Amino acid sequence: MITSSAPGKVYLFGEHAVVYGEPAVPCAIERRATVHVESREDDRIRVEANDLSLDGFTVTYGENPDEANVDVPGDLVEAATGYVNGAVEQARDAADAPSAGFNVEIESEIPLGAGLGSSAAVVVAGIDAATRELGVELSADELAERAYRVEHEVQEGQASRADTFCSAMGGAVRVEGDDCARIDDPPELPFVVGYDGEAGNTGKLVAGVRERREQYGFAADTVEAIGDLVRQGRRALRDDDVAQLGELMDFNHGLLSALGVSSRSLETMVWAARDAGARGAKLTGAGGGGCIVALDETTSTRLALEYTPGCEAAFRAELDTEGVRRE
Ligand code: PMV
Repeated sequence: MITSSAPGKVYLFGEHAVVYGEPAVPCAIERRATVHVESREDDRIRVEANDLSLDGFTVTYGENPDEANVDVPGDLVEAATGYVNGAVEQARDAADAPSAGFNVEIESEIPLGAGLGSSAAVVVAGIDAATRELGVELSADELAERAYRVEHEVQEGQASRADTFCSAMGGAVRVEGDDCARIDDPPELPFVVGYDGEAGNTGKLVAGVRERREQYGFAADTVEAIGDLVRQGRRALRDDDVAQLGELMDFNHGLLSALGVSSRSLETMVWAARDAGARGAKLTGAGGGGCIVALDETTSTRLALEYTPGCEAAFRAELDTEGVRRE
């Protein structure tokens, strides 16, 4: 059996605008998805998942995943198997083994669909483990590229390279269209995450922003303003100016809220963090529910979030400088 893990991420800046070619800065966090892979005698795939905000499920399927035999129903399982299936297809392609079958076991510390890049982490770790099980080693760049293809396909074209590149490489990264790179020596980023227990629908939220952007010039300007803000944020990162990073996070949240992707519980958590003295706070990822990220080197924000109605979990999330890891 071969095991790989890959980190989840928060967006310091730039989600949604990144879909239109503006820059973004996602940062890997020390919460991982771990994927164990073992070859099978036949060409089928058996997936067992734990902790993906589900109580656990098992699914076995052959050529046609639609005819899968699943032990729990639901959209989440469908989404999860779509990503695993894509990862297996990439591994088969990379190793030139089109009918390789696998038993796949997933353990994840990253809540599903909450803006922390759980699907990208599963796909990156899954491709890495499955290709190694077939005797092939891919570089982190190749993994990022193949993982992006999977997300792009499963999300019907509504995916940027941000999540998959960040998960494969680790650290803080900058993404602008197809141009992705790690940011050297970022300052200490004391992230605190608040989670409302909900999952936003990324496809719908991205489509909503697209509509507003087409309908209103000022919504298009808002997307561009996020791009300007991210460029300023990259300078603040270079200058180790954590106070300004916090201010820009607050600003970024306001612009995302104007674009219609915040929610009552995200707003409540953002304000709880600000009231507790966080340097800045914003939603992370697609929005609509899920997680906020704040910057606070003290324990105040985490404690305040723990007592905030609607916040299901609050935790510190250290920047993870390591991307995909061979366990
Ligand atoms: O919620 P997440 O982690 O899937 O992030 C979505 C980020 C978007 O910018 C809204 C879409 C994308 O693919 O970049």
